[in-house]
Amino acid sequence: MNTMVLELDVRMLPPREKHPVIFMKFDNLKDGELMIIVNDHDPKPLYYQLMAERGNIFEWDYLKDGPDVWRIKITKKGKTIGEIAAEDVRKVKVFMKYGIDFCCGGNKPLKEACTEKGLDVGEVEKALQEIENKKYELNFNNMPLHELTKYIIEKHHRYIKECQDALLGLSEKIAERHGNDHPELLKVNDCLKELIYELNMHLMKEENILFPYIETISINRHAGGGLGMIENPIKAMMHEHDVAGDLIKTIRIQSNQYIAPEDACNSYKALYKLIKEFDDDLMVHIHLENNILFPRAIQMEKAILK
Ligand SMILES: [Fe+2]
Ligand SMILES: [Fe+2]
Repeated sequence: MNTMVLELDVRMLPPREKHPVIFMKFDNLKDGELMIIVNDHDPKPLYYQLMAERGNIFEWDYLKDGPDVWRIKITKKGKTIGEIAAEDVRKVKVFMKYGIDFCCGGNKPLKEACTEKGLDVGEVEKALQEIENKKYELNFNNMPLHELTKYIIEKHHRYIKECQDALLGLSEKIAERHGNDHPELLKVNDCLKELIYELNMHLMKEENILFPYIETISINRHAGGGLGMIENPIKAMMHEHDVAGDLIKTIRIQSNQYIAPEDACNSYKALYKLIKEFDDDLMVHIHLENNILFPRAIQMEKAILK
């Protein structure tokens, strides 16, 4: 680990540059590393912004608390064991292998847990990263279709449902605040609202009509409704994927491929980062359905009805 401590004196920086510079430096810190901020007033608003945008992954200590100079030590704690396990359940295996308590003792950062057990944190991080890299290596071509539908619902449908409120809220706020200077934000916001509305309708149809039918033919080997029946709802779903794809393309163009302008505030940048994640997830989601689930379901129905 780098033992050099970064001291950042922001007193000479123009006010609008202070937070972006601090965020950039903070993001570059590794887990367990720290930086010291020097300022001419109490940077408490920074604390709240950091907490809102990065979460509870840092410690905030006053080394000097005014009256003329404030020195704040910010230590990056990193995600807790519990958070890491919750984000990707397969990582539990790594914790089990190294005897790290991810359950009741999960409320501590990885580095701290490793130090307590005398483990090499780099080695554990590497094992976790290997799992991360295998994210999409599940063999969807051999997975039973009723498991594939459950996987899609659990991973991709759930993701949309869980992040949509925060995403729309942030987008609305940024459009309202910066829409005059950056009218493209208004377009991004409109498209995002339409996209999420359409996706909610779409998920409902998949979860209530199409996926239960696919699960029935996969588990019971029984098809109802005659040859080609499944092709019609699948065509409808694929058309809706195209509609969603067109909306996301417009968002990409309007957002300059999610590159925020020079004068963008941190919330603005965070919005683009979140939409980019949403876009990435949606592409994998649609790929799984269009290229794997749907063709296999059509084949299976045909085979049953033969
Ligand atoms: Fe879906
Ligand atoms: Fe879909």
